[in-house]
Amino acid sequence: MEFSTKSASPEKLRSGCAVVGVFEPRKLTTHAQAIDAASNGMLSDILKHGDMDGKAGTTLLLHRIPGIRAERVLLVGLGKEKEFRDKEYRSAVAAAVRALDQTGAADAALFLADLPLKKRDARWRARQAVLATLDVLYRFEQLKSKKDETRHALGRLTLAVGRRTDVGPAQEAAAQGQAIADGMNLAKELGNLPANICTPAYLAEQAGTLTKDQKLALEVLEREDMAKLGMGSLLSVAKGSREPPKLIVLRYSGGKPDDKPVVLVGKGITFDTGGISLKPAAEMDEMKFDMCGGASVLGTMKAVAAMDLPLNVIGLVPATENMPGGAATKPGDVVTSLSGQTIEILNTDAEGRLILCDALTYAERFDPTCVVDIATLTGACVIALGHVATGLLANDDKLARELLEAGEDAGDRAWQLPLWEDYQEQLKSNFADMANIGGRPAGTITAACFLSRYAKKFDWAHLDIAGTAWRSGKEKGSTGRPVPLLTHFLMQRAGSL
Ligand code: BES
Ligand code: MN
Ligand code: ZN
Repeated sequence: MEFSTKSASPEKLRSGCAVVGVFEPRKLTTHAQAIDAASNGMLSDILKHGDMDGKAGTTLLLHRIPGIRAERVLLVGLGKEKEFRDKEYRSAVAAAVRALDQTGAADAALFLADLPLKKRDARWRARQAVLATLDVLYRFEQLKSKKDETRHALGRLTLAVGRRTDVGPAQEAAAQGQAIADGMNLAKELGNLPANICTPAYLAEQAGTLTKDQKLALEVLEREDMAKLGMGSLLSVAKGSREPPKLIVLRYSGGKPDDKPVVLVGKGITFDTGGISLKPAAEMDEMKFDMCGGASVLGTMKAVAAMDLPLNVIGLVPATENMPGGAATKPGDVVTSLSGQTIEILNTDAEGRLILCDALTYAERFDPTCVVDIATLTGACVIALGHVATGLLANDDKLARELLEAGEDAGDRAWQLPLWEDYQEQLKSNFADMANIGGRPAGTITAACFLSRYAKKFDWAHLDIAGTAWRSGKEKGSTGRPVPLLTHFLMQRAGSL
């Protein structure tokens, strides 16, 4: 898809389809009014007849509107004008693109991109329009023997910009949107691939393809390297699997050599059976998504490199399967982590924290300015926040606020949970420094408490994406979250927003 930005009036712009909005009830936006005036009141007539009332999510495609240069007009319902905010804007663009995808139009002019929004400028609107568009158009087709050929006539989208001086900045922001969407698509693609294809080795290989960009460099630690370092916790998870574990270390050098890096750590369990603490059979297929944290790190690194952000970022992805087997870790086993702290593994299904803790300790060697880990860590987070917000816990409130704001900006929201000392006692073990589970109450928080014991030497935040990384049911598939949140966080830090 090609995106361009233009400042032009709706009746004059030549295109396969002019996309304009209608507020509820039956109120034409200024762009729709311009087409209405040029066509002698065609649009008001249609509204009068009740064919479009402006309800959010509705669309109406019109042909042969006289007096304008577009071949078609797509009316998009925007809902009530007073309630039109960020989310409604994104939904309207998504509805428009869904409708355009069903038409034969090869190109369209999106006048929705010029709708006023509180606190949002032309850059934000252009970036978000691109993100919403590419999110709708994404299809997972890699493993289908026949591609869906009925869609994707749409190849070019022109984003309308009100002021001429906004054309350049909006174009730049559209390119950022494209980079972020490409990163999201990588995350979606890796998430959607089944575990027999997307193995730890496959993840490492995909990380390798990113190094075509000169500013990205890859190092992969093998089982023996990890053993030598003393990553007893990470390796205890890999013990039941035939697939060799990998620790992916991807470095992006966009800043000055001595700029301290942001380190991103992503959980890369390519399949989580639960291990000896085996999960029930229902929906177990969805545990192929247990590497979505790792995938979001790779997607974010790809986006950051495409945007050429002036900062240093290191992506760490501990990758392994969690399998039962004759060699697998057993409940009650005690292992020694890279930090030297010992762990009693009371439940082998609480494996995410076991691979993340060693990766967090490994992060120390990069002298990070901060560390953010991303993980499909707890079912409890789905219970707490559903599929709407990512769980956020942090040992530094400023970092937490930064991430919350980035999520708000990106339309990829997180919600903070407390990381109070009071919860730590739930991790007490009679046989080791700590247990790997803290019982049923506050499962998301005690998981973060466990990680916090390995994050004492830096500012750290943890994103639990168990509820947001993928959708279940009919629309089953990876969402690409939280790549938008992470990229916005880094863009903010780089001063590139
Ligand atoms: N990958 C799961 C978490 C998960 C479960 C994410 C369901 C999304 C949907 C994680 O490894 C896990 O199994 N966590 C356990 C922890 C428990 C044993 C303390 C859980 O949440 O049940
Ligand atoms: Mn598990
Ligand atoms: Zn897991």
